[in-house]
Amino acid sequence: MKAFVWSKYFVTGITQIDDQHKKLVELVNELGEITVDGVSSSVNWNDILDRLINYTKYHFKDEEKLMIEYKIAKRHFTEHVKRH
Ligand SMILES: [Fe+2]
Repeated sequence: MKAFVWSKYFVTGITQIDDQHKKLVELVNELGEITVDGVSSSVNWNDILDRLINYTKYHFKDEEKLMIEYKIAKRHFTEHVKRH
């Protein structure tokens, strides 16, 4: 069973961001599956966690860069960065 089910409600309409969010969901689900189903010999829990952390850092930086590029209002940008 998937820990996180992708929904159309998460779609931003910005392909680059939507693709990254989908990748994050995949990693969360991969982590959830091996946590629930147990660790198989071919999958390492720490490797997936590292990939999830690194991809999240990459995504946050990319998202913040785009927000600057698209001149998102300062208060929205500041609040979003604080959430990251
Ligand atoms: Fe995001």
